[in-house]
Amino acid sequence: MSIKNASIHGQWSSRWGFMLAAIGSAVGLGNIWRFPYLVGENGGGIFVLVYLACVLLVGIPIMIAEILLGRRGRQNPVNTMQSLANQESLSRHWGLLGWMGVGAGFIIVSYYSVIAGWTLAYIFRVGAGVFVDADVLVAKQVFVTLISDPEKLLAWHTIFIMLAVIVIARGVEKGLENTVKILMPMLFFLLLLMVAYAMSTEKFFEGLHYLFIPNQEHLANKDFFSDILLPALGQAFFSLSIGMGAIMAYGSYLSNKTSIVFSCFTIAIADTVVALLAGIAIFPIVFTYGLEPASGPGLIFMTLPIAFGQMPFGTFFGCLFFILLLFAAWTSAISLLEPAVAWAVENCNISRIKATAWVGILAWLFGLLTVLSLNHWAFSFQFAGVVKENGLFDLFDIVASNFLLPLGGLLIAVFAGWFMRKQSTLAELDIGNGWVYQCWYFAIRYIAPLGLLIIFLNAVGLF
Ligand code: PFF
Repeated sequence: MSIKNASIHGQWSSRWGFMLAAIGSAVGLGNIWRFPYLVGENGGGIFVLVYLACVLLVGIPIMIAEILLGRRGRQNPVNTMQSLANQESLSRHWGLLGWMGVGAGFIIVSYYSVIAGWTLAYIFRVGAGVFVDADVLVAKQVFVTLISDPEKLLAWHTIFIMLAVIVIARGVEKGLENTVKILMPMLFFLLLLMVAYAMSTEKFFEGLHYLFIPNQEHLANKDFFSDILLPALGQAFFSLSIGMGAIMAYGSYLSNKTSIVFSCFTIAIADTVVALLAGIAIFPIVFTYGLEPASGPGLIFMTLPIAFGQMPFGTFFGCLFFILLLFAAWTSAISLLEPAVAWAVENCNISRIKATAWVGILAWLFGLLTVLSLNHWAFSFQFAGVVKENGLFDLFDIVASNFLLPLGGLLIAVFAGWFMRKQSTLAELDIGNGWVYQCWYFAIRYIAPLGLLIIFLNAVGLF
């Protein structure tokens, strides 16, 4: 059991309170915006299969470890790592792991907020009927016009950061839990509706086939390690919100009675189901309307509005969809900033409201870089065999999700599997020493660290 019983920031009101908040963190733009476009860029069914393996073999064990560390330390990730290292008689430098997470959070939020801004903008575009009977050309035009206008992007980005700041300032239970409880189930329902629409399109089975059946041809000109495995692994970390302390911070508000292992499986399953549903909804539309699966970050913004333009009550459902996507992004953005806010409250002796305001201002400033990188500062480069055209925006995304999060995950695995005493993990997980524990222990000691190491060494060109 944990050394302390509760965090100074409060505690989730129940097991479901935690689970919903963690699902709120995991389910976000990563599932609906990022997953489908990566599938389209990196090999369809093969990418999906590798992604699922990464979630199961690396993602879930690391999520268990991260929550375990959070609950045992009961502080923000920086202090948690320092005090756990202290308890285990290890170097205080483990605190750097927490710092890396805080940094990754700012980098991710800088572009996350801009994409959430697109979502906000689309609520109004769809609501105004811009897409009624629109074809691919119109859909592309609307998207390109939006991202080339820095003032509009800046306005939406500002509004989104303000929304996130308001909820974080209200604190763990009131702010985070209540928002998620109602909105997550609604988003799920709307996704089912989109899938129903996709089933009515001509190329439904082609879409399914693309998503679920690995096709050798999609491997042509691709390097398995760097073009498929690395982005799939990065997506698993990004989508499950692991490797940067967000879920560690949430774990620090978790009651000692809740089962970490059960919670993690539930969170990972919910997260994966939402991503797959998004894929099932999107690819049939992509093929039916002759769009390019590898259209990059604009994919959902250029496909789904066409569907809304065609279906009955499309304006209503379209508005609702983007509103719910906004909420999903909102509950994730909150968790991206929570480690930094918790750190400021614990170490700078300031109120939660003040800490949130400072963190919000910093996140807003970072976001300016992304806003400009989509237009004035745009430059292109190549990564994983794909040309990236949005300069810093793409670079931030790649550095954070493909490198910083997996590196954070590697350190978490090494800490929990090799440096912490076995009794400590046994006591915190509280599931006995049976096969479930043994499987986790094996995964966290061998599979996750070795897998991550091999991928890293390959990514930096060592073999
Ligand atoms: N998991 C979120 C998504 O899929 O949109 C993004 C995210 C949230 C990543 C929190 C990392 C994190 F710590």
